[in-house]
Amino acid sequence: MSELVLNVKDLSAGYTTHGLFGRKTYKEVIKDVSFSIAKGEILGLVGGSGTGKTTLAKAVLGLIKPEKGVVESFTKKPQMIFQDPLSSLNPAFTIQRVLEEPLILRGIASKTEREERVRETAGKVRLGESSLRSRPSELSGGQRQRVSIASALLCDPGLIVADEPVSALDVTIEAEILELISELRRDTGISFLFISHDLNVIYKICDRVIVMNNGMIIEEGETRKLFRSPENRYTKALLSAALET
Ligand SMILES: Nc1ncnc2c1ncn2[C@@H]1O[C@H](COP(=O)(O)OP(=O)(O)OP(=O)(O)O)[C@@H](O)[C@H]1O
Ligand SMILES: [Mg+2]
Repeated sequence: MSELVLNVKDLSAGYTTHGLFGRKTYKEVIKDVSFSIAKGEILGLVGGSGTGKTTLAKAVLGLIKPEKGVVESFTKKPQMIFQDPLSSLNPAFTIQRVLEEPLILRGIASKTEREERVRETAGKVRLGESSLRSRPSELSGGQRQRVSIASALLCDPGLIVADEPVSALDVTIEAEILELISELRRDTGISFLFISHDLNVIYKICDRVIVMNNGMIIEEGETRKLFRSPENRYTKALLSAALET
């Protein structure tokens, strides 16, 4: 069996909300979820809106505490990228400074070394000199997504959780970002948990797919096989809806 970067077993998680009179209510969102990701694998997570994809991503990254079950990570600092990176980029910083931030946090004190690492990583994601001098609001959606990918790479992760990373982009830019992710996987062996509600996108990039509905994994399989012969009714419905678009 290939080397794993992540193993999730019987994971249940949700949110506690505070109601009237300080009463707490717990709402379970994901239920008994188990899956794993191999080194260098792009695993797709697909499902309709509100099924718990982002919640699962947060639980995988330890941003919310599991109610039950375990998340075992066998790799260095997993990172997350989002649909709209603008909210996570400091508007006052130039992109150069934004990208130096993870290195400062990692204790790389030498400015020259940081500049070198940023230049090298900007090259990998094909961000030019002028983009590095810009502020986040001055970049296009595609360039911003390149910045967030570069920022994740600068943390030297073994796994990147990408939550709808191309959903806000038009199709040509989407194709470029998907190409970039495939290339990074090929060249660096980084694994991805790639979340999308769009099966067409999943088909282009993922090795294997898990399908989620109502917080549960209802089907799992190698991408081509799952698209060719889905077994679950919900997966079939998602696929026929995707064919119409
Ligand atoms: N911070 C929160 N507090 C309480 N409930 C939340 C919170 N975040 C999400 N939820 C609820 O959890 C459920 C799953 O939400 P989640 O964001 O994980 O879905 P999703 O599959 O990522 O949807 P989308 O495709 O729209 O991004 C929803 O019912 C949502 O209302
Ligand atoms: Mg979501």
